[in-house]
This record gives sequence, C-alpha cells and structure tokens, in this order.
Amino acid sequence: DLVLDQFAGGGTTLVEVKLLNRNIIGVDVNEVALARCREKINFDHSGANGKVYLYKGDARTLDFIKDNSIDLICTHPPYADIIKYSEDIETDLSHLKVKDFLIAMRDVAAESYRVLKKDKFCAVLMGDTRQKGHMIPMSFEVMKLFQSAGFKLKELVIKEQHNCKATGYWKTNSVKYNFLLIAHEYLFIFRK
Ligand SMILES: C[S@@+](CC[C@H](N)C(=O)[O-])C[C@H]1O[C@@H](n2cnc3c(N)ncnc32)[C@H](O)[C@@H]1O
Repeated sequence: DLVLDQFAGGGTTLVEVKLLNRNIIGVDVNEVALARCREKINFDHSGANGKVYLYKGDARTLDFIKDNSIDLICTHPPYADIIKYSEDIETDLSHLKVKDFLIAMRDVAAESYRVLKKDKFCAVLMGDTRQKGHMIPMSFEVMKLFQSAGFKLKELVIKEQHNCKATGYWKTNSVKYNFLLIAHEYLFIFRK
C-alpha cells in the first residue's frame, strides 16, 4: 500500500508505516521537519522494508501525486495558530487564525479527496481551541469541510490529550478565568 502524510512533522506516521512494511509519501513545508523525518526513518528493523518518499511542499497543492493513487491518508495538521511550527514560512498553516485556517483546510480536504483511491480511508487528527474563555470547536468545522469535499465519516475517535507543553499555561488561565481544560482531540476517519 501507498500511504500519505501531507503534514509529516516529526515523522511519527512515516516510522509506523515503514514498520508496517508499507510505502509512504511524507510532505511538509518546513525543511527542519523534513530533516527530522530523514533522521527518524533512517533505521533498519526486520520486516520493515517500506519505502519513504519525502517532499517539501504544501498540503493544499499535491501536484506531484496522481489522482486516485493513495491507499490511506493518515495526517495531523496544525491546529490553526495554537502552536507555531515556524517563524517565517508563508505557506505554514500554523500562522493562520481560525477563519483563514479553515479556508486553507478546504483546499487540503479537496486535495486529500483527489489523491485517495475510492473506498479508501483518510484519518485526520484535529483539536479545538479557546478564544476569550469560550470554546471554539474548530475540529468539527474541519470535519464538515472533509464531508463537503465528498468524504463520508466512518468513525470518530476521541483521543485523550493532556499534560502537554502548553498545559501549564492553560491550567493557570482556566483557574483565573473559570473554564475547563480541553483534555481531548478527535481522530476523524473518513471514507472516500
Ligand atoms: C501537528 S504537526 C505534525 C506532527 C506529526 N504528526 C508528528 O508526529 O510529528 C503539523 C506539521 O504541519 C506542517 N505544515 C504546516 N503547514 C503546512 C502545509 N501547508 N503543508 C504541509 N505541511 C504543513 C508543519 O510544518 C508541522 O510540521
């Protein structure tokens, strides 16, 4: 099988796919992330013979990937500008506020639909955020964009997510401004 992670980041998907003896295309806008990916996939393990193809590119325009050619998409976009992954890469979606991020994710959904084979799965991990103490359910907006692109929602998995780098900041503010901590994110599993 040929897998795609168009927000490859630190390379977790690449490593797991290689271990599962599948091939994978990894894409990221950030050269630092791609260097990390190259490091991570450089291992030998019995039975882990999957090939990893790395590209510097934008998840919104995957021109180098043919229509209906991917067997599985497994990816993890930035959550708008909650965590910035670079200082000055223009195409880095982690610089966008929620409204513009969602416009960009519409193109990501369309490209994902184009490259995936019919009946195959597309898994997208997404989180939410808060603005002025109120919950912004950004992940559900992303889910709807993928549905509008043509995908059907097969599964919705809730992933516990806490004790991360930013938890201290949010904990302090949650007490100060009286709101609950977000302690989960969603894994949307779509089918084409
Ligand atoms: C949440 S991280 C991915 C983490 C990854 N799953 C891991 O295990 O390390 C999101 C990644 O998306 C990349 N990115 C941001 N905008 C992008 C775009 N337009 N196209 C491709 N990658 C992008 C960032 O550079 C960052 O590495």
